[in-house]
Amino acid sequence: MSTISNNGSNKIQHLPLIRLEGLCKSFPGSYNNKGERFEAVRDVSLQVREGEILGLIGKSGAGKSTLLRLINLLERPDAGRVFVAGRELTQLGKAELRAARQNIGMIFQQFNLLQNASVAENVAFPLRLHGKSSRAEIAARVDECLALVGLQDKAGSYPAQLSGGQKQRVAIARALAPRPAALLCDEPTSALDAETTRELLATLADINQRLGVTVVIVTHELSVVHALCRQVAVIGEGRLLEQFAVADAAARGESSLARELAQLQQQQQQRQQSTERERAYG
Ligand SMILES: Nc1ncnc2c1ncn2[C@@H]1O[C@H](COP(=O)(O)OP(=O)(O)OP(=O)(O)O)[C@@H](O)[C@H]1O
Ligand SMILES: [Mg+2]
Repeated sequence: MSTISNNGSNKIQHLPLIRLEGLCKSFPGSYNNKGERFEAVRDVSLQVREGEILGLIGKSGAGKSTLLRLINLLERPDAGRVFVAGRELTQLGKAELRAARQNIGMIFQQFNLLQNASVAENVAFPLRLHGKSSRAEIAARVDECLALVGLQDKAGSYPAQLSGGQKQRVAIARALAPRPAALLCDEPTSALDAETTRELLATLADINQRLGVTVVIVTHELSVVHALCRQVAVIGEGRLLEQFAVADAAARGESSLARELAQLQQQQQQRQQSTERERAYG
């Protein structure tokens, strides 16, 4: 058996996996607001249940990426608290935080792979960094993770030899290697075509279902929310405008984005019904 700890199985049933309390984040202002700090995230409190798939949507500049990066403290909040799997990350020292981050994988729009390392070396990277596993354990885990994303045959390839979709799969395998409980995704399909996007979303759904990994995904594409997410949080000007179950968009959603989402769902439903009618009578 592997000695790489399975953080994902260390479940705290009664608590949300991710809990954000009163998060604020500002950045030094630019020339047009005369040195005042710009408030990118304003007093956001939000919970994500274990096993959930939450979409963060909002206009460009709304603060979605900043909020996502606050979850693993890639950005330090000016105020507020971050809890993941029952631990308050905002209380941890450097070494403890590094260990706690093993529980939170992340993928990005531009994949962020190591260009001079093979696919297998990329996936092994977080395990080597942590330094707790033997070579054999790392090799076995790399193999497992590449199998999860259907890329075992590319272990020896280099990122430059892969398509965009394949690169994002390597990034997913790398993020999953330390067995995280949560996967943070920042616009993971924005650089991909429609067909590849569908395949990648199916992979994320599969990983959520099979491994129980909680997914938080930033996207500006409502079709991504419709295809993948069960919950959605709408962000506007740094604030959480609303959060609701995707299935309830028509009944619950109040923001313009929520109404657009409800419309999209209705269209998809009508399309599906007419396809079914054609099948039945055509
Ligand atoms: N490191 C930084 N320094 C200064 N300002 C920043 C920094 N990071 C983000 N901002 C500002 O904070 C605001 C929110 O940025 P953020 O990247 O979170 O938005 P977003 O919702 O992800 O947008 P997009 O959909 O375009 O990616 C923007 O106005 C941005 O310019
Ligand atoms: Mg962004």
